[in-house]
Amino acid sequence: MTVDTTHPRSIPSADWVTIPDLYADPYPIYRRLRAEAPIHWVPAVNRYLVIGYEACHTIELDQERFTADETNSLMKRSMGHSMLRKDDPEHDVERKAYGGVLRPKAIKQEWNQVFERSFATYLERLREAGPGADLVTEFAAPFAAENLRVIMGFENATQEDVQRWSQTLIDGTGNYADDPDVWAAAERSSREVDVAIDEMLPILRDRPNGSLLSALGASGMPLESLRANFKMTIGGGLNEPRDAIATTTWALLSHPTQLASVLADGRWSEAFEESIRWVAPISMYPREATRDTELCGLHIPRGARLGVAVGAANRDPEVFVDAESYDIDRPRKPHLAFGGGNHFCAGAWVARASVVNVALPGLFRELPGLRLDPDRPAVCGGWVFRGVTSLPVLWD
Ligand code: HEM
Repeated sequence: MTVDTTHPRSIPSADWVTIPDLYADPYPIYRRLRAEAPIHWVPAVNRYLVIGYEACHTIELDQERFTADETNSLMKRSMGHSMLRKDDPEHDVERKAYGGVLRPKAIKQEWNQVFERSFATYLERLREAGPGADLVTEFAAPFAAENLRVIMGFENATQEDVQRWSQTLIDGTGNYADDPDVWAAAERSSREVDVAIDEMLPILRDRPNGSLLSALGASGMPLESLRANFKMTIGGGLNEPRDAIATTTWALLSHPTQLASVLADGRWSEAFEESIRWVAPISMYPREATRDTELCGLHIPRGARLGVAVGAANRDPEVFVDAESYDIDRPRKPHLAFGGGNHFCAGAWVARASVVNVALPGLFRELPGLRLDPDRPAVCGGWVFRGVTSLPVLWD
């Protein structure tokens, strides 16, 4: 497409888009929007929705024009001011404090055994629930929560606590309706997380270990920032591996030829990467324009609240051939599911190690004849966070 960058057009408005429709299935909406422009003003979400691959990627790489520190951010209200809502150099200082905790060496030395142990525990729970069980609630959610609990250093909490904290804090970041019950639940979790941190910090100072709390506690990060980063990581480190496990399992079980190829050649990594391209677990995140500017030939006003819809960008037909289908054989192009630029997901190695190396191959190895339940179809849902929310499965 040829774009005139010297005379930017004004951005079209899409007042027909509704939040329930985005939640139910955003992809037909993205297709209709894409035919007109890569950016639209969407009154229902009070944002300029950026759906084109090039536009999303440009925003990720340009924090001068597009700040992560959004005005009136609901995430800041729910979780505090974490590095995810800061630009460099402030962001960089906090990101560096994460050190090696989420990186390959620590995963090899410390976390792989945690992933194996959680896998064994929650495989057993799934087996006890028996064929017909929901893979999301009986396996994927507690597996992801338990891994995160241990990595973060919450020796004083359960995986159920981590699930509750994660959900209620995330609900706060999406509380556009300003529902007081949602705020109350988020505030309760926020206080519980503060108490758990305060209790663990002195223990880990006396007995340091490889956990994130131990590393951040020793880094000199102010307590307020530490708490905010912890809440952001609780919110950002659970749903996505959970949803990636469920969506990939569902995709493979619905595409038997591709499943056969994955089983024959151990193509778990390709199955996973294609799945998070196809259905990005974090499908939209915010940025704000710091000045009047131009993007892909469109005029963006200063202060514009942007929704970077990587879930849409990952299906941009200008980049991905037959973008709507799940295809592990498609030509490799970088997807945007882990974001990009300075906020590129800090947990990508953890996600890949726990999901690609442990959960997915383990499930198909240990549950012979794993298949969808023909009487109870999988349920997909969500817009900002999207995935398979219920996946009843059978096995022999
Ligand atoms: C399939 C799994 C995952 C996906 C798709 C994913 C996706 C993302 C995305 C899109 C961002 C950037 C958001 C933005 O720029 O506003 C992000 C940031 C982040 N993620 Fe993940 N994530 C995953 C797993 C994890 C896990 C397991 C952890 C922790 C153990 C984690 C920790 C973080 C952190 C700390 C950030 C903030 C990085 C920064 O601001 O520099 N993520 N993730």
